[in-house]
Amino acid sequence: MQRSLFTIIIALYSTATFAQRQKAISPDLFGIFFEDISYSADGGLYAELIQNRSFEYTGSDHKGWHPMTAWEYTPRGYAYGKLSVETKSPLNENNTHYVVLDIQDVGQEGLGLTNYGFNGIPVKEGEQYDVSLFAALLAGNAIPVTVSIRNRKGDIYGETTFDVTNKNWQQYAAGITVNKSDDSACLVIIAKGTGKLAIDQVSLFPKKTFKDRTNGMRPDLSQAIADLHPKFMRFPGGCLVHGDGIANIYNWKNTIGPLEARVDQRNIWNYHQSAGLGYFEYFQFCEDIGAKPVPILAAGVSCQNSGGTWVIGSTGQKGIPMADMQAYIQDVLDLVEYANGPATSVWGAKRAAAGHPEPFHLQYLGIGNEDKMTPDFEARFTMIYNAVKAKHPEITVIGTAGPSSEGEDYEKGWAIVNKLKVPVVDEHYYNEPEWFLKNNQRYDKYDRKKAKVYIGEYASRGNKFINAISEATYMTSLERNGDVVHMASYAPLLAKKGNTNWNPDLIYFDNTGVYPTVNYYVQQLFSSNSGDVYISDVVTFDRKKDSTLAASVVKDSKTGDVIVKLVNAGATDAKVNVNLKALGALQPKAQVILLKEEGGVPVSVETEFTKSSLTLDALSMQVIRLHKK
Ligand code: AHR
Repeated sequence: MQRSLFTIIIALYSTATFAQRQKAISPDLFGIFFEDISYSADGGLYAELIQNRSFEYTGSDHKGWHPMTAWEYTPRGYAYGKLSVETKSPLNENNTHYVVLDIQDVGQEGLGLTNYGFNGIPVKEGEQYDVSLFAALLAGNAIPVTVSIRNRKGDIYGETTFDVTNKNWQQYAAGITVNKSDDSACLVIIAKGTGKLAIDQVSLFPKKTFKDRTNGMRPDLSQAIADLHPKFMRFPGGCLVHGDGIANIYNWKNTIGPLEARVDQRNIWNYHQSAGLGYFEYFQFCEDIGAKPVPILAAGVSCQNSGGTWVIGSTGQKGIPMADMQAYIQDVLDLVEYANGPATSVWGAKRAAAGHPEPFHLQYLGIGNEDKMTPDFEARFTMIYNAVKAKHPEITVIGTAGPSSEGEDYEKGWAIVNKLKVPVVDEHYYNEPEWFLKNNQRYDKYDRKKAKVYIGEYASRGNKFINAISEATYMTSLERNGDVVHMASYAPLLAKKGNTNWNPDLIYFDNTGVYPTVNYYVQQLFSSNSGDVYISDVVTFDRKKDSTLAASVVKDSKTGDVIVKLVNAGATDAKVNVNLKALGALQPKAQVILLKEEGGVPVSVETEFTKSSLTLDALSMQVIRLHKK
């Protein structure tokens, strides 16, 4: 009797200490940063296969580009006529360039134009591709137009024919099934009757898109993103958001509604945005991958690097004129209504018309992107923040604290956020691996009463194993500080090989393949093994105070699983002690995932995990998932 009382007393004592060693952490800690950089959207995630589909490319997008970039005039079999690009009677005022074919002699085959996609159109045998175009008959009787998918020599893989009879713009659409696989096919449009024909907004989509969405995303890339199990997705940038000058600030309203009426725009990263992947598609994609949407809007100022001023300390930042700020603020408020408002509201109705009457459950809204902390910025940020707070107190606004881990903009950004009591602030930093090792304690010192942190962009400047493992050590500190670090996203997410504006990136891809980096696997190990409770004082190392060793322990309250992460970024093996007794009653069978330089991909095994002492290989990381008894 006496003995069991003693046991109860000990048990109560342990329970109390166990409870004391637990703290709630952010359930939204690890997410993704999507920016339309390095062809992440057009030619990337967005599954459209036609490049420059509405003939809106210009030399200001990219030196030497023009409305016929990626297109070629194609007279076949002695046909005679001409092709011109015109703007007189456009499809709509937002899409003013279109092609006119003047067919004087059809010859043996007719004449038209060819699109080569984004360096070739990849097609697969037996699969269907949805083609569509707008056309208007300007002269002549009905003109048959054949649209085919071919190889470069002209061999046809599949085709369809439309009879263009309408003098007004009309959309023609059909499916083409392809009889051969080819990574570098092209789309050929041939008019087979004399007369004049206007053509615009030519589109070719694989039938198979991620989750079978119309106007959807590339399935392989989407799956790689979904496999990160991100808790949130930030979009559409990055510098893309605040743009190169005021006219280039990303305007979400220009990216919704009928595709042919969306406003194409120069991309700050020296190419073009069709806006086919627009705000509706971003929200829908977030929903499809189970991530909370985190749209970022400009704080009423353009990028400080506007006009090519990519020099530290310089500022090409321009503020929206005060006279236009109320309209800009209204756009910000309208976005909340677009995402969350009832289908009967003005902007909610537009969401419903696009096929989503239910709200998108917007919770976070970022204002600003690592802006230069000028008086122009502060005035405009304050106006926007106050307006959102007043009209939508339910929305968590994310402020911004410059482009570096320290310095003037960081200090001033934090001061503004503190003054206004903004709930979350976005920090950005790209530093060397050593920085990530040495700064493992950065957030231990942050004031818990001030704003929470969203590390919106970070990376250790490389895709080598040492980069990934340094990031892993740092991420254990983000879990440990998950009560003040609310969110974090590696940046950038995607980059197309041959079109990279920025290195390193998390996932590289080309027209047919997806190449995740070792940094990707580190992000994946953390995001798919996250928790909402942090448990301290479980792991001890023999090499104390060695910044290359790191650990974190979290619990997922939904499943009761306890997840131990152990990282050794050092060049020698290290002994680690895991105090399993301090974790409550757990099953001996655990899932152990090992990531080592050799192999470079995580390897998972189900095994008994009962020993509290283990050796961590040099340059390795382990995730041990223990299940509740
Ligand atoms: O992530 C790439 C770029 O880095 C972002 O556009 C910008 O915010 C940062 O400077």
